[in-house]
Amino acid sequence: MKKLGVAVVGTGFWGKNHARVYKELACTNLVAICDVNAERAKAIADQFGVKAYTDSSRMLRDADVEAVSVCTWSTMLAKEALRALNAGKHVLVEKPMATNSGQAQKLLQVADAQGLHLTVGFLMRFIPGLQFMREAVASKKIGELVSAVAKRVSEWPERIGDVGVLKDTAIHDIDVMRFVSGEDPICVYAKTGCMQHRTFEDYAQIMLTYESGKSAFIESNWLTPYKTRTLNVTGSEAIMRLDYISQELWIESKKESVQPRFGFQEPLKMELQHFAECVLEKKVPLVTGLDGLRALQVAEAALKSSAKNTVVKLK
Ligand SMILES: NC(=O)c1ccc[n+]([C@@H]2O[C@H](COP(=O)([O-])OP(=O)(O)OC[C@H]3O[C@@H](n4cnc5c(N)ncnc54)[C@H](O)[C@@H]3O)[C@@H](O)[C@H]2O)c1
Repeated sequence: MKKLGVAVVGTGFWGKNHARVYKELACTNLVAICDVNAERAKAIADQFGVKAYTDSSRMLRDADVEAVSVCTWSTMLAKEALRALNAGKHVLVEKPMATNSGQAQKLLQVADAQGLHLTVGFLMRFIPGLQFMREAVASKKIGELVSAVAKRVSEWPERIGDVGVLKDTAIHDIDVMRFVSGEDPICVYAKTGCMQHRTFEDYAQIMLTYESGKSAFIESNWLTPYKTRTLNVTGSEAIMRLDYISQELWIESKKESVQPRFGFQEPLKMELQHFAECVLEKKVPLVTGLDGLRALQVAEAALKSSAKNTVVKLK
């Protein structure tokens, strides 16, 4: 079986998990890693027995590197992803993909022009319970979709200092709402603010409305002393509730309450395996560059809505 030669740029908290998973997967060959922190680069490279770089442009000259995971600080993602695409590498860029939608658009253009895969780290889509929910909505197992409510709250992970909770955290749920409903919102109204973070918002409440009449609400903050990550979906015939942490799913109707069981899966493993298989087999990935761009556009609209205290129309 042909293995995809991969590298990871940015091997901090999250990038080192990418490196570990690429090392574990049968379809990938981890060739190198890169981190601007030389000590960290060496430690991670030694751990996985691969080459260490502190400058990605040098690493990208290696022809054995066919695809790259970009896991740098959020404000460096677009620059590093663009560099990798320009070097002819397929790219998985972590969320939020870019600092703004203009940078994200550029990534889409370059990937398209070069015929390269570009996918975004929307990990939630790989959780079996969420895939079940999406199918249940599409096939109307819960009747007509009425609304969805997401909650993603925890303490502030202090290493995140270059974007606020909206682009860092709520963006997962913005994407989830598009994934589950199969629709783009037409309006957004949001309230954001900061209590502990000096530069960026550390709480955000976001309401999305859709042409079809449904609506979604996202609560996201870095002010809660424990971690909650849930999604509640209301249909005309039944409701569904997913706990992302335990991956448990409940479906309740007037008649019955059921809990479909899925074997616990490491979402990152599913995500990276899917990325590699899509590149090797030339398939369209579950998350496209356009999905990343759309989510970022909604996040930008939410920030604008909060700043102007008004509803922002997206279409
Ligand atoms: N999809 C998910 O569920 C998920 C989860 C966690 C983090 N993330 C994303 O992953 C990214 C990294 O997050 P983290 O928590 O690992 O942050 P982190 O600060 O722990 O790690 C970032 C690393 O990138 C390195 N770096 C920065 N700029 C670089 C560059 N130009 N070239 C090489 N290395 C560079 C830093 O030295 C650091 O080691 C963020 O964009 C974050 O949003 C996604």
